[in-house]
Amino acid sequence: MKFTLGSLGPHTAVDLLAVMLSEEDLARSPLLDALDAALGGAVRTAISDEEFTAKKDSALTVVTYGRATPRKILLLGLGPDAKVTPVELRAAGARAARTANAEKATSLGLALTDGDAATILAATLGATLGAYRFTRYLTGDRRPKKELERVTVALHGLKLAKHTAEQKRALAQGEAVGRAVNLARDLVNDPPNEMTPAAFAAAAEHVAKEGGLSVKVLDRARIRAAGMKLLDAVGRGSRNEPRFIHLTYKPEKARKGRKRVVIVGKGLTFDSGGLCIKPAAGMGDMKSDMAGAAMTVGAMAAVAALKLDVEVHALVAAAENMPDGDAYRPGDVFGSLEGKTVEIINTDAEGRLVLADALAYGRKLEPDYMIDHATLTGACMVALGTSTAGFYANDEELAARYLDAAKTAGESLWRMPLLEELRDQLKSDVADLKHTGDRYGGSITAALFLREFVGGAKWAHLDIAGPAFLDRAHALGPKGGTGFGVLALLQFLASLEG
Ligand code: BES
Ligand code: MN
Ligand code: ZN
Repeated sequence: MKFTLGSLGPHTAVDLLAVMLSEEDLARSPLLDALDAALGGAVRTAISDEEFTAKKDSALTVVTYGRATPRKILLLGLGPDAKVTPVELRAAGARAARTANAEKATSLGLALTDGDAATILAATLGATLGAYRFTRYLTGDRRPKKELERVTVALHGLKLAKHTAEQKRALAQGEAVGRAVNLARDLVNDPPNEMTPAAFAAAAEHVAKEGGLSVKVLDRARIRAAGMKLLDAVGRGSRNEPRFIHLTYKPEKARKGRKRVVIVGKGLTFDSGGLCIKPAAGMGDMKSDMAGAAMTVGAMAAVAALKLDVEVHALVAAAENMPDGDAYRPGDVFGSLEGKTVEIINTDAEGRLVLADALAYGRKLEPDYMIDHATLTGACMVALGTSTAGFYANDEELAARYLDAAKTAGESLWRMPLLEELRDQLKSDVADLKHTGDRYGGSITAALFLREFVGGAKWAHLDIAGPAFLDRAHALGPKGGTGFGVLALLQFLASLEG
């Protein structure tokens, strides 16, 4: 998909022309007037017949029947002028692209309400996200014959008057961020027989190559040699051997005081539960148990494309949790990279184990902040539903900064408490720690377990079990992998730039 800044009118060669309109724009848009004139008044007639008032989330389609070059015109309501936010512009951009796909359009015109860089970025990001489909495994009639190739962005004044460098940069940024989210979605949607730990590592290596990142991948032998006993334990039951992945982004020029951030993702390419096997119903959704890893690698692609002025290390602990003669069992005790010993209680609580070794590795990189994302607990979904992630942090400044970034980025997080009184649930008779507590407070005890491995690092943990994978389409994309977390993480990293 290629974005350009240009001009839009009744005779622009696009299949679909989408016009974003605030309630005030309805009366004052020169583009709308030009379209109406070309269609002999049919646009204004449709507006009054359908009582279209540009309310937020409303839309009206007008067919042109050859009187204008676009086959259809799509009016997208944004609500009152004063209330239009980047998040709403993004949703409108997504809707335009989704409609373009449904109309089998290969080109889309997108008319914006103003030429601010923030508006251009939001609309471009939205269009990139909204165009997303996962079609890799479809054949024959199911395979889309046409896809959206060209998006022309312009204003109501028909022309985006002054293509400033800033406007061009916003266009490229919106697309880069959107592609990062879509990459995370692809990795999640890929089936678990294909997306094995080794395949995930290959995908991460590909991202590294494209973005000029350095990359290190440890196979099973090197995971063992490094002392990552917990990651090894979880991976033991599968023929698809585990991988540990370390991507590094360092800005070209040295700068004093630059922040270093470690981001960590849970990468269970499939979670059957292991010997404590899950029920059959819905087990296939556990292909999404690497969503934390997917959004971590996706975010890294954008960090490289945007050349952020922050040093970022991405760590992924990838494994497949399977039952087998060699699988780890309840009652087993393992050491860990950090040094603490862990008694296994339930082999389905595997995520915190692989993360424990990754966090211990990350701490040694001496980051200013360490952030992990994991589809960690069903308990978090019970608590917060599927649109909001649980947010934990051991540092108030970090928590405030991250929550603020998420709000700006339009992703929903809710701060959860690291309740000290639940820590007793992790006491073991035979080892330093048990890895699960009882049923109540399950998301919190998982976070308390992780905290044991971060040492003195300023750390935040996002339990994304709810929003990472949805069984219904949403404003920014279809059902399946959402890429949740990329937008907030990038906003957070951008807030640390010098
Ligand atoms: N990957 C699951 C959590 C999960 C469940 C994510 C549903 C997305 C949707 C995790 O590994 C798990 O199985 N957690 C257990 C922990 C329990 C055994 C302490 C859970 O939540 O039931
Ligand atoms: Mn599990
Ligand atoms: Zn899991």
